[in-house]
Amino acid sequence: MKTSALKADYGVEISDIDIRSASPGELQEIVEMLSSHGAIVLRDQELDPEHLVAFTRLLGEPAYNPRKEVTLPGFPDIAVISNKIVDGKPIGDPDAGTGWHFDMPYERRPGYYTLLYALEVPDEGSNTLLADLCAAWDALPEDRREEVSDLVLHHSYAQLASFKNNTLTPEQRRRLPDVFHPLVRRHPHNGRLALRPCFGGCKGVLGIANPAGLELIKELVEFVTQERFIYSHKWRPRDLLVWDNNCTLHRGTPFDKKKYIRLVHRTWIQSPEEHYRDSLNPVMGHAA
Ligand SMILES: [Fe+2]
Repeated sequence: MKTSALKADYGVEISDIDIRSASPGELQEIVEMLSSHGAIVLRDQELDPEHLVAFTRLLGEPAYNPRKEVTLPGFPDIAVISNKIVDGKPIGDPDAGTGWHFDMPYERRPGYYTLLYALEVPDEGSNTLLADLCAAWDALPEDRREEVSDLVLHHSYAQLASFKNNTLTPEQRRRLPDVFHPLVRRHPHNGRLALRPCFGGCKGVLGIANPAGLELIKELVEFVTQERFIYSHKWRPRDLLVWDNNCTLHRGTPFDKKKYIRLVHRTWIQSPEEHYRDSLNPVMGHAA
């Protein structure tokens, strides 16, 4: 196994390893690199859906996909991200994640790790951008840190769905009430602080009336997504990219959907209960 940094102090590319035949010790080493470095890239992996699910389960409990219609038939843990049409029907979600966000902010226990495995990739565009939120917090001026360190964000799946013109099913409405997450969180593995603003379905900041609350989130997203904090992943077929949502915002860049096909399988891991005990409580949310 060889390793090289994706950028200074963030992310590792791991080569010379086939995760289908890796030993338990090698797999453990990969998991440790992910939890220490925020993201990993593994190139040239030949993964069937079963392999992707087995690797995902090494990282924790696979998360529920609220939109069953975009999951891979027979694999409820795998979401299909694609603009491909088969027999006149879309086979997946063509528009996943074009604005900066962390995954599942609308869940009481948001996304921990996200895994993307590329089957088909456009020749140009459709990069995945990852922003290092611990580096962003470290770079925030001291007086600004004091102003924002106790803020709590209000997230809503209903609002996110309405942006995508989707209506909630009764099950989604029951499973996904509004939740409240701290803007600044301590990373559960390495103890570093991460500045985690997120747009996906965010209604605002507790105690700050809109539009000022939403403007503050916009300002902080612009701060954490400066060029100096970003790794841009240029995809090749059979790449497996995994990032840690505790310390990463991400988005996809656009591509020409009339000219190119993108087909990616996504799995994700839900954060453990102990990290998010108070996320339903708007007053206690900041203590999580
Ligand atoms: Fe995402």
